[in-house]
Parts: sequence; C-alpha cells; structure tokens
Amino acid sequence: PASDPDLVARAVKAKAALGDRLFVLGHHYQRDEVIRFADVTGDSFKLAREAAARPEAEYIVFCGVHFMAESADILTGDDQRVILPDMAAGCSMADMATFDQVEEAWDVLSDLGLADVTVPITYMNSSADIKAFCGRKGGAVCTSSNARRALTWAFEQGDDRKVLFLPDQHLGRNTAVLEMGLSLDDCVVYNPHRPNGGLTDQQLRDAKMILWRGHCSVHGRFTEQCVDDVRTRIPGVNVLVHPECRHEVVTKADHVGSTEYIIKTLEKAPAGSAWAVGTELNLVKRLAAEHPDKTVTFLDRTVCYCSTMNRIDLPHLVWALESLVEGQVVNQITVDPETTYWAKLALDRMLALP
Ligand code: 13P
Ligand code: SF4
Repeated sequence: PASDPDLVARAVKAKAALGDRLFVLGHHYQRDEVIRFADVTGDSFKLAREAAARPEAEYIVFCGVHFMAESADILTGDDQRVILPDMAAGCSMADMATFDQVEEAWDVLSDLGLADVTVPITYMNSSADIKAFCGRKGGAVCTSSNARRALTWAFEQGDDRKVLFLPDQHLGRNTAVLEMGLSLDDCVVYNPHRPNGGLTDQQLRDAKMILWRGHCSVHGRFTEQCVDDVRTRIPGVNVLVHPECRHEVVTKADHVGSTEYIIKTLEKAPAGSAWAVGTELNLVKRLAAEHPDKTVTFLDRTVCYCSTMNRIDLPHLVWALESLVEGQVVNQITVDPETTYWAKLALDRMLALP
C-alpha cells in the first residue's frame, strides 16, 4: 500500500532538520516506505562497515534488526548514538543461541580437551555477548558475504583446527561443504537442548565443523520442491538463493549469496532472463519492480516476509526522527564496555579478512 503522505512529509522534514548529524542505514529487507529514507542500504557486512565509517554522525538510525544495531554501536564512537526505531525488531535465529548455552557447549568441548583446537565463528546474526564470547576465545564474526574467508582463516589458526559455527547451521554447512570442499560427514549439529549437544564424544572429536542447531525461519521455508516447481513453471529460470536456505535447496540452486550479491547478480543479468529468488519478500518485490525487463519471481508460492524486519515501519521511523529533532533520543541501543571490547575484537577480525 502507498505510504501515508503526511508521514512521508514528516519524515522528510525531520531528516532535513537533523542534516549531517543523522545517518540512516537500511537493510535490504526493510519495507519500501522505510528504505527510501536510508542514506545507505546494504547487507549486514556493508552496513557494519558503513556504520564504522561515519564518525561525524551523532545519530545512527538503524533500520534493520537488533543484532545489526548492536554491531553498529560496538563499531562506532562513544559519543555516537545508535537508534533502533522499534525495539521488537529482533531476529529469531539470533535468539537460538544464548550466552549460557554457548558457554555450556564450550565446557563440553573443554572437558574433551577440544576447546584448544576449536575456533568459534559466529554469524553476524547473533547477540553482542555471543560475539564477545568469540572474541575472547580467539574467534571471529562472519556474515553471509565473507563466511568462506572467515572459515579459511579459522582453519589456518593451526593444525587439526575445528570450528564451532554459531548460530546458523545452514550457512555453516553450505559454506563448508559447497565452497570449501568439506564433506557432510565432517559436520555435526550441536543441539543446545540436549546433553552433550545430542552428540557422542567421538562425533565431537571427529567433526571439523560443529554446527549450532539454529536456522532462519524465513529462509527455512524454501524447499527442494519449491526449486523443482519453479523450474517446471518457468523453463530456463535461474534460481538464486541466500545461503541461509537449507543445504538441499542451495545445492539445487544456480547461484547463492548475500542480499547484496543477489542485488548485484540481478543488475548484471541480461534483459529477458528469468529469476526465482529465495530470500525475504520485501527485497524480491523490490527487485521485480526495479527490473521490469526481466522476470523476477519469489521462489516460494506463499507470502514470506521477515516479521521482525517488518516491525520497522514508517510510523516508528517518524517517531524516532521527530524525537531526535526535539532533542530526545529514543530506543538507543547500547552495549556495555566489556562486551564491546571483546565483540569488537571479533568484528575487527572479520573486517580485517583478506
Ligand atoms: P545479509 O548479510 O545477506 O544481508 O543477510 C542478513 C540476514 O539477516 C539475512 O537473513
Ligand atoms: Fe533473522 Fe531470518 Fe529475519 Fe534475517 S530473515 S533477520 S536471519 S529471522
């Protein structure tokens, strides 16, 4: 639906009043009504870099989800304030790994004498304290656009290294198996709700990749059947998916990559080509509108937004911006100094990847 013109006018006015003091970041899954006010749009990696590169901005309004705003706070200066227009914009995948659970898993590995040879790598989609845990234990953060480089780095830390990959089992498995040549047998899934992760000591000893049992509920909806159906429906279609999709789906797809990669791939695609895109629906609809010379369709036949990304809507954005104009900072995201120190170490290791 078209945005309320009154709200649009209020957002324009508030942004103008704040000028260079304000920097608005927008993740690609944001609604159209919000993304139009972003100074920069990007995938998680690009947005983390952009946030760190704006020391002059007093206020960083993050149109995305909680873990992204936390990372922005970690990477920005003490005098910069990061604002998430709706505090309910979390990420169900990030919630699948809590600090206590990860500490418990590490204790299991320590008892087996494996902690010294394990490098914890956490996907950006995790809370600040999980990132800090990885920083403390010699690990790093990764995003969907650099997971392979992060894993390569981890395995290069020494002979017989293994990786504890948090919290998205699919990104971990897809990267290790499809991009790095590991086998499915090299991977085990650690279930935090079961003793010993539901694994035998021998399985933990043998594994190269210990994958946390987390997933994205949005990308988890795409199945092999979706890929088969769209290939029947649209002969010659190119299937382009996000690496948070299940292994069988990614194996059947033609291209896989982050949201930024998906956008770039569509930009380079020739006119007349057909694309079925397996990622969040706000982005797929926008791509379809931006490429009328190509067929761009959603990989699933049902509607599939990320409900928490969608929490950020125009009324929340206007409220956050107008509050700033009135000198009031609402919904500020702050990470405590100790967590910031260690999480920044893990994020900086990612940013320094070749
Ligand atoms: P990207 O880093 O590819 O933008 O992915 C972020 C995300 O949350 C995907 O679900
Ligand atoms: Fe989290 Fe999935 Fe939404 Fe991305 S799409 S923010 S991983 S729930």
